[in-house]
This record gives sequence, C-alpha cells and structure tokens, in this order.
Amino acid sequence: MTFATERLLLRNYKTEDWERVHIYGADPDFSKYELWGPNTLEDTRKFVREMVEQAETHPRYKFDFAVCLKESRLLIGGCGIRCESELSRVASLGWAISPEFQNTGYATEAAKALIEYGFQKLNLYVIYATCDTRNAPSYRVMEKLGMKKVGVIKGTKEVKGRIRDSYRYEILPSQVKGN
Ligand SMILES: CC(C)(COP(=O)(O)OP(=O)(O)OC[C@H]1O[C@@H](n2cnc3c(N)ncnc32)[C@H](O)[C@@H]1OP(=O)(O)O)[C@@H](O)C(=O)NCCC(=O)NCCS
Repeated sequence: MTFATERLLLRNYKTEDWERVHIYGADPDFSKYELWGPNTLEDTRKFVREMVEQAETHPRYKFDFAVCLKESRLLIGGCGIRCESELSRVASLGWAISPEFQNTGYATEAAKALIEYGFQKLNLYVIYATCDTRNAPSYRVMEKLGMKKVGVIKGTKEVKGRIRDSYRYEILPSQVKGN
C-alpha cells in the first residue's frame, strides 16, 4: 500500500527501515510524552518487525506507514490510522516526524491523506487523536487537520513517572473540508 501526497510517499514499513527510525526512536526528547522510548536498538527493531507483520495481516485494520520524502525516498517519520478492531468504524491517528524535518507541515500532510482514506475507503464514522496536553506540536497538527477538541481526559496514563492529562480531538466525515 502506498499513498502519494504533494511532497510525501507513505508506504508499508520494510525490515531495513530500523536504521532511519532509530535516529528519532532513540532520542529521549522525542518520546518524552509517550509511553515508549527512548528506544534501544532492539526496541526499534521490534517496532519495525511489528509494523512489517501488521502490513501482512488480513483483513488489515491498522495502517501504519513509513513517511518518506517523495523525491529522495528518505524515511523521515511515521503516520498511522488504526481501527479499534476488524469491524470497528472508529479509528485513531498517530504521527512522528524526525526532528530535522519538523515544522514544515509533513505530519499534517501525511495525516490528511489518512483521514481521506479512513472516510472514503474504510467508511469510518469518526477519527480521533489524543496527545499529552503539553504536546503543542501534536495538538496543533490536530487543529490544522480540522479536528475538534472534544475533551480533556485527566490522568489517562502514567508516562515516565508523571500522570498524563490528554486532549482528545475528533473529526467526522462532514467536517472534512470539501465534503
Ligand atoms: C507532533 C509531530 C509529529 C508534528 O510533526 P510536524 O511535521 O512538525 O508537524 P507540522 O509541521 O504539520 O505542524 C506542527 C505545528 O506545530 C507548531 N509548533 C511546533 N512547536 C510548537 C510549540 N512549542 N508550541 C506551539 N506550536 C508549536 C508548528 O509551528 C506547526 O504549526 P504551524 O504550521 O501553524 O506553524 C512532531 O513534532 C513529532 O514527531 N513529535 C515527537 C513525537 C510525538 O510527540 N508524536 C505525537 C504523539 S501524540
């Protein structure tokens, strides 16, 4: 499976992607709001293995992709849309862009393609995303995608010794611009 956007190519992960993924996976600052990380080499290899296996699952209901620059094919991050189960019409979005490529709209561009896929091909009812309330770049992406903040969830999980409060943003098919 691949998606082409103006500047990006979203494709299934390959085993050899671990090297590029590890650049940001191993960075403690990158995953400071997340349950995972900083990754050991084995953590990153396991993650990429799981992503390769996910792409081979039938029927597939989780769609995580390597985000690559269209021109050079360089892997710069990941983006995914995950239905809650095989039959679910509810899915969550997630994203990661390597620090040197951040703040140029890549996460938004990749996620926009997955929202389109979710509503047009997966017939989803709602797509949501959550993030730590301190993760401004992540909720800014949600806002730029036209997602609406529907709540603040207090104490969703304990992350790196701190109880995390999360924002939840959602988008419905009728809220996609152009629909
Ligand atoms: C969240 C993340 C994927 C965003 O990727 P990105 O490609 O930089 O996203 P975009 O360029 O599309 O948008 C980022 C927006 O955040 C803004 N931003 C960046 N740092 C910010 C800050 N400290 N405060 C407020 N806004 C900030 C940018 O200015 C940009 O908004 P703009 O286009 O209105 O200027 C990236 O920061 C990342 O990988 N972070 C680490 C992993 C992570 O936290 N993933 C999400 C888990 S929920």
